[in-house]
Amino acid sequence: MAEENKKKLRSEDWFNPKDEKSAFIHRSWLRNQGYPNDYFEGRPVIGICNTWSELTPCNGHLRDFAEYVKRGVLEAGGVPFEFPVTSMGEILMRPTAMLFRNLASMDTEESIRANPLDGVVLLTGCDKTTPATVMGACSVDLPTIVVPGGPMLNGKYKGERIGSGTFVWQLKDKIKNEGFTKEDQIEAEICSARSAGHCMTMGTASTMACMVESLGLTLPGAAAIPAVDSRKKVLAQLSGRRIVEMVREDLKLSKILTREAFENAIKINAAVGGSTNFIVHLLAIAGRIGIKLDLKEFDTLGSKIPLLVNLMPSGKFLMEDFFDAGGLPVVINEMKEHLHKDVVTANGKSLIDNNTSAESYNAEVIATLDQPFMEEAGIAVLYGNLCEDGAVIKPSAATPELMTHRGKAVVFETIEDFLASVDDPDLDIDENSVMVLKGVGPVGYPGMAEVGNMELPEKLIKKGIKDMVRISDGRMSGTAFGTVVLHVSPESSVGGVLALVQSGDTIVLDVPNRKLHLEVEEAELQKRKAVWTPPEPPVDRGYTSLYTKTVQQSHLGADLDFLVGKSSADVTRDAH
Ligand code: FES
Repeated sequence: MAEENKKKLRSEDWFNPKDEKSAFIHRSWLRNQGYPNDYFEGRPVIGICNTWSELTPCNGHLRDFAEYVKRGVLEAGGVPFEFPVTSMGEILMRPTAMLFRNLASMDTEESIRANPLDGVVLLTGCDKTTPATVMGACSVDLPTIVVPGGPMLNGKYKGERIGSGTFVWQLKDKIKNEGFTKEDQIEAEICSARSAGHCMTMGTASTMACMVESLGLTLPGAAAIPAVDSRKKVLAQLSGRRIVEMVREDLKLSKILTREAFENAIKINAAVGGSTNFIVHLLAIAGRIGIKLDLKEFDTLGSKIPLLVNLMPSGKFLMEDFFDAGGLPVVINEMKEHLHKDVVTANGKSLIDNNTSAESYNAEVIATLDQPFMEEAGIAVLYGNLCEDGAVIKPSAATPELMTHRGKAVVFETIEDFLASVDDPDLDIDENSVMVLKGVGPVGYPGMAEVGNMELPEKLIKKGIKDMVRISDGRMSGTAFGTVVLHVSPESSVGGVLALVQSGDTIVLDVPNRKLHLEVEEAELQKRKAVWTPPEPPVDRGYTSLYTKTVQQSHLGADLDFLVGKSSADVTRDAH
């Protein structure tokens, strides 16, 4: 082992410093957990960063997973130490888990940097736990590997697939138009959550798992393995072995996360029909590792990429089907002519070399480039006077006939206003209206809530209307669908033009030409702006106060401004 450790390990500053007193202190207290002395004799120390929490049900199995990672670390000659970081469950946290992504990233960053770690394994699952921990790890830039916790088994209700999340968005329609009873609902609850794991649609959690695999931060094939499949445990163990080698090779995050790796990830996200949340998370990760990425690039690089994966919400299958059909390696192999070839991944090989033998076992689930499920599937980025810094729409989840639309705005000033009035029979709205929601951006909500896919008014659902144009400064769950324009930047709460829209104004959506325009004269907009006042922050203390004062707009990734930029693992002072 001494032979391999030519580069001095970071942990040796704690365990084998010149100062014998420091060495004694650092080793002695740890040894109360029963470690033999040779644990501290130049073996790579691996932190297992665990987002396990019973309040994050999608990550509820990760405590067990850590044991498999430990096996692998020990087998490879390393020393594992598991530590917890802030976990974010998408379903339970109020006002929105996204508010806490940056907090968890700070927790991850400081926990890694402050401790005697040489390498890190990130155990992730539910939506925000992946970007948060990757962002934090990027700010330290040690060798790091991700073990995605895996999706739940397919939801099955009365013989039919039901996708977590996606089914929820269909519920109102089912109750109103299909006689869905309370008993049906209760039965469907458990049918859509059959096992440990995260949402099994191509929602945000699955998108994030595909993102880290396509960035090269996992071992090949990691993303789609279901949480309860024994191969996931093997993946955890092999990742434990591999991180020890990565430390010895000094394969740091910044060597994997190159501009080319980000470009590959954008293209692969388009091919799998990934969530719009991918945008804010990838921008934030790029910011942390020091790569300049522009919102427009999600369109220029991704929008012409064909859809190769037939998963809800864009299609009809689920993650277990995706895994059975060969998973992400098939997509990467199929996409190889579009991808950068020489990007290194966590196992030391290139993304292309890792996946050359992958083939689709089910053409209904993973298509070929010649016969895709949709010709152009990536995210479209819109500009116009309503969104000077951009807005996004996911064409694969939208209604083709609505992609070019002109309609009268029906404005909801807040989410509470929307909830109180959307089902009012007297609300002046029809299927050609454009629903506009304000106050749900990073500063306004705060935390940029997933409410952009506003449910349609009851009276229109009863008429059989399935989709309408909706616009907001918020986000949308990756499991959702519809002609929904999201991430309008600048947001209304900081004085973006969205704040000035009034019911009755005409809005023009033109996705083919990437335009979103409010047809109101500039002089009238200036008049409205002169009397506009920013809303009072709902909370003005603690982390939320720090967040609203420093969060960037969505087109920059909604990170806190002081966290952006390259950092390092250096700590200038000893422990005292
Ligand atoms: Fe956790 Fe969907 S709620 S992944």
